[in-house]
Amino acid sequence: MNHEQQGAVWKKLNLGVCYYPEHWPESFWAGDLRRMKENGLGTIRIGEFAWSRFEPEEGQFTFEFFDRFMEYAAEADMKVIFCTPTATPPAWLTQQYPECLNGDKEGNLYRHGARRHYNYNSPRYREFSARIAEMLGRHYGPHPCVIGWQIDNELNCETNEFYSDSDHQAFRRFLQEKYGSLDRLNEAWGTDFWNQTYTDWQQVYGPRKTIHDTVNPHQQLDYIRFVSESAVSFCHLQSRILEKYKKPGDFITTNGLFGHMDNHRMADECLDTYTYDSYPDFAFALDADPVRSVDLNDRKWSRNLTESRSVSPHFGIMEQQSGANGWNNRMEAPAPKPGQMMLWTMQSIAHGADYVSYFRWRTCRIGTEIYWHGLLDYDSRDNRRIEELRRIRDRVSRMEDVAGADYVSSFGLIKSYSNQWDADADIWHRRVDAFSEREIFCGAQLSHIPYDVLYLNVERHEKAMTPERYPLLIYPHGTIVTDHEKQVLEDYVRAGGILCIGCRTGYKNEYGHCVTEPMPGLLRELAGGTVRDFTWVRPEEKTSMEWQGRTFDMPVFNDVLEAEGGRELAAFSGSYYGGKPALLEHILGRGKVLYLGGVFTRQLTEAVLRYAGVVSPYSSLVQAPEDCELALRRKNGKTWLFVLNYMSGSRTVTLKRPMADADSGQTVSGEVVLEAYGTRVYLTDGE
Ligand code: GAL
Repeated sequence: MNHEQQGAVWKKLNLGVCYYPEHWPESFWAGDLRRMKENGLGTIRIGEFAWSRFEPEEGQFTFEFFDRFMEYAAEADMKVIFCTPTATPPAWLTQQYPECLNGDKEGNLYRHGARRHYNYNSPRYREFSARIAEMLGRHYGPHPCVIGWQIDNELNCETNEFYSDSDHQAFRRFLQEKYGSLDRLNEAWGTDFWNQTYTDWQQVYGPRKTIHDTVNPHQQLDYIRFVSESAVSFCHLQSRILEKYKKPGDFITTNGLFGHMDNHRMADECLDTYTYDSYPDFAFALDADPVRSVDLNDRKWSRNLTESRSVSPHFGIMEQQSGANGWNNRMEAPAPKPGQMMLWTMQSIAHGADYVSYFRWRTCRIGTEIYWHGLLDYDSRDNRRIEELRRIRDRVSRMEDVAGADYVSSFGLIKSYSNQWDADADIWHRRVDAFSEREIFCGAQLSHIPYDVLYLNVERHEKAMTPERYPLLIYPHGTIVTDHEKQVLEDYVRAGGILCIGCRTGYKNEYGHCVTEPMPGLLRELAGGTVRDFTWVRPEEKTSMEWQGRTFDMPVFNDVLEAEGGRELAAFSGSYYGGKPALLEHILGRGKVLYLGGVFTRQLTEAVLRYAGVVSPYSSLVQAPEDCELALRRKNGKTWLFVLNYMSGSRTVTLKRPMADADSGQTVSGEVVLEAYGTRVYLTDGE
């Protein structure tokens, strides 16, 4: 993915649907395709679990079934995203070659019957996968209906841990290449601790069964890096093949977004665009923790969409929720309420999706997903979801130019994969990170100040880290800091940016070892202060700080700071470190660093945004209650304003200037009442 407008492969905003010809009699196909088209669905995605239809026996290839289906597709003038079916190996394959299977930590293999039970590293599975990708690419690549390719399905979904023999062996090779010698590996993994010193490479494994499931944290960090490498390399294996066969203008993608995976690298090296599978109904699942409502329920899918936009500024939704969640053994959830399908579709488009494909055309009548509802129920009659789809179709047709328009954001949230994966392995890190990520999202959402996610060590992101583009960057808990990262952050500050960092910053190196300099380690001079003392804060222990005439809670974790070149903006109160600095400001070059000795609550996030002078891009256009999400997309002097009401009651917004309503085409201004789950899209010229 290297072109200028990263990921912009769709010229017009458009809709599609996931279809499984292998689940339905041929007599259904023509009628299904015709009804899809009538209802505005112009693209289908097919084939991702249908390996046995192409290769019923080892090496016996047949295209008969899908060729026949493609004739119907051509007849209906339907566009097709074809998939490689490697997420579900055939029974003959796993029977004959069990080394292709993934296993658990104890070495028990996952068996046929579910999906994603294969491993990325078995040479045999890679051979079979390459061959099926080659056969499908060659056969269907030239087909006029095919517009794109999906590799596999949801790499790293179901599990992102791999413990087959092939994985342990590949991990060893990965480490040999990385460290060159056992001495260096022993050093990097800190094996003097608990007598883990390795004297032979054959002693080295990925994590295995241990007491309390405790794993050497440095080994675990390398292991996650290795899983990511394996997934990217498996994707690359297939993309290189499809690249040979795709027609000019056709695209290669895969659907995410899953952990233990450098999605940016995968997109940059293997894909033309990225797609995301969006299922906001999970927020209302019967087993959902009631505490989760504090993270804004379905509205928090905007966090994942922000992350998808970070991978590919223009992306697609390969699977957009249309009916209720549910497998036969888990994930029960209520049906989306009338309006929520439109709401979730608009949420995706608001964040940068140029293509939205629903999951699935008709609810499956067989297998594990009989309760994962599609647009149609089993009986195929028109229903309220199809009626809602028609309203979506009509609106989309009036705003199709939005494709390629950029999401407008006001500040940046910094991440790095090493840190993300360190937090996976380290509960101290994870707890502060999870808290701040949730709260920064909520604070920004509720105050209507949109942000982008920028990754360190992703070149295109580091280039974008300029004060002109992002006046404020928040890097909540950059625990691992490298020299390169320090330099990137320092350059940004010296050029005039405001960098805000939180507790636990800079106390580890790239292997996850704690550093011996005072915290924040490499960022000490940048931060203008150090940490003198630190502690977890139990929920019943209230610590706080006074800043800008307000009192802010300082929950979860406190770093007690000491100024060294910076100046104290606020002090702690409420504990033995009351009166000691909680927030420092350090002027450096033309910019400054704000160093917070805590996590980011939503109130504090809003205060930091205000203090840094970050302004809402919506303020001249609309006034909205905090319950409504706002978003802008902009292209060639045109601006689309999205107003999304996630609540079960109506909400009123005030348009501050006349704008064209995308549904009616009428110019409107002043008060507008959005019904429960209601959404509006307005078009306006200029900024
Ligand atoms: C996705 C997956 C689909 C389907 C859906 C509902 O994760 O890609 O194939 O399984 O969830 O479970």
